[in-house]
Amino acid sequence: MTKNTRFPEGFLWGGATAANQLEGGFGEGNKGLNIADVLPGGKERLKILSEPGFDWEIDKDKYYYPNHLGIDFYHRYEEDIALFAEMGFKTYRLSIAWSRIFPNGDELEPNEEGLAFYDRVFDELAKYNIEPLVTLSHYEMPLNLVKNYGGWRNREVITFFERYVETVLNRYKDKVKYWLTFNEINSGFMMPIMGLGFSIQKEEDRYQPTFQALHHQFVASALAVKAAHRIIPESQVGCMIIYAPVYAYDSNPENVMYALEESRLFNNFCTDVQVRGKYPAFINRYFKEHDIHLEMEDGDLELIKEGTVDFISLSYYMSRTERKEKTADEVGRGNMIGGVKNPFLEASDWGWEIDPTGLRVTLNELYDRYEVPLFVVENGLGAYDKVEEDGSIQDDYRIDYLREHIDAIGEAIEDGVEVMGYTSWGCIDLVSASTGEMSKRYGFIYVDLDNEGNGTLERKKKKSFYWYKDVIATNGEKL
Ligand code: BG6
Repeated sequence: MTKNTRFPEGFLWGGATAANQLEGGFGEGNKGLNIADVLPGGKERLKILSEPGFDWEIDKDKYYYPNHLGIDFYHRYEEDIALFAEMGFKTYRLSIAWSRIFPNGDELEPNEEGLAFYDRVFDELAKYNIEPLVTLSHYEMPLNLVKNYGGWRNREVITFFERYVETVLNRYKDKVKYWLTFNEINSGFMMPIMGLGFSIQKEEDRYQPTFQALHHQFVASALAVKAAHRIIPESQVGCMIIYAPVYAYDSNPENVMYALEESRLFNNFCTDVQVRGKYPAFINRYFKEHDIHLEMEDGDLELIKEGTVDFISLSYYMSRTERKEKTADEVGRGNMIGGVKNPFLEASDWGWEIDPTGLRVTLNELYDRYEVPLFVVENGLGAYDKVEEDGSIQDDYRIDYLREHIDAIGEAIEDGVEVMGYTSWGCIDLVSASTGEMSKRYGFIYVDLDNEGNGTLERKKKKSFYWYKDVIATNGEKL
């Protein structure tokens, strides 16, 4: 398919990863433990952390911990960045592991070895003119803050985060211009363990702590935005959300209203606060009905107003279809964001519904509501790959998926939406966040490693590697 390019000049093409899913380097360079280090491999891993009595300890006799090795980027970043450069990446989204900089989260002085590691990574990127896009917090809170402070429920964590953020902003002020605050901040509604640093055992206990923790993150995010603008005047800071447009299952007005309510809460609540700088009107009724009382300090709301983000970044993997009344079967099925089955959509091998048009809907909905630039910083297909006898990996299914989603972005741009760039998720195979599997692969680059940690770690270019290289070289003209 060839069309005239719809993508603006300077469009930031690239790929995205997170420290805990690819670095490895467990305990090296004085790194402290973080949440991902106690996540066992396997589909049950998030459930295990939420079980009563889980003590946040590592038990190697019982479990394998895939994040300890990641894909060994800690030692192989030069080779990996050279491959990104070969594809023509303009940008690379990565996160800084907070516990490399402040191993326990609550120290007063940072760990120089951790800071030096990211200096080396940023210098390597600069060699190829690849602009870093840095997530400050991507599901990797220092474990000490989880165990001994209760995660983001505790207001004191704001101070620790502020110290960490000021440290990295000052250190990398000449190297990094684009920053994101909290990865998928709204994931706290689904899996508080990853983003908010605590688990919930009973559904009814979910509301108060989740919103209180989110309030602390809003304050922390606003402080980070203000600090970035002060320390790096040309910086741009984005919030980061999972967006899944919510479709009503049918034209029953009850279902339409339900879809609207679910979408506002999941897709818009956090962004309303971080972009508009205030709590949205609809949340008052929700707080009342769920008996939620936020504890705020004087000045919090002013701070939230002053520290609004410059752009919205988002992950997009699937849409969600909602009906007010659902059967138990429907609730438990594979679409990570939930909802009922959409009869028009196919799903990935992990049950995530594939909907490229939903990405165009997403970008239009967000731009209509907020009128700030958007950045698609995660999207991709987790799939099983097969290495052929000749060593090649023919991942046409991944190319099809990405082509259709990038085309949807092109359509949205033609609709008038301002899109800054696109970084596909897991540009190199890495450990899956939700299941800990290596076999759920997203990359253009294959990594020889299995779910139990066996393999040579050798990198191989998949068919999609060459395809994406062409997409970038033609600025999206050739898809
Ligand atoms: C996003 C996360 O939710 O989805 C990533 O920000 C994650 O960390 C990605 O890896 C894909 O999810 P999974 O579970 O397939 O790795």
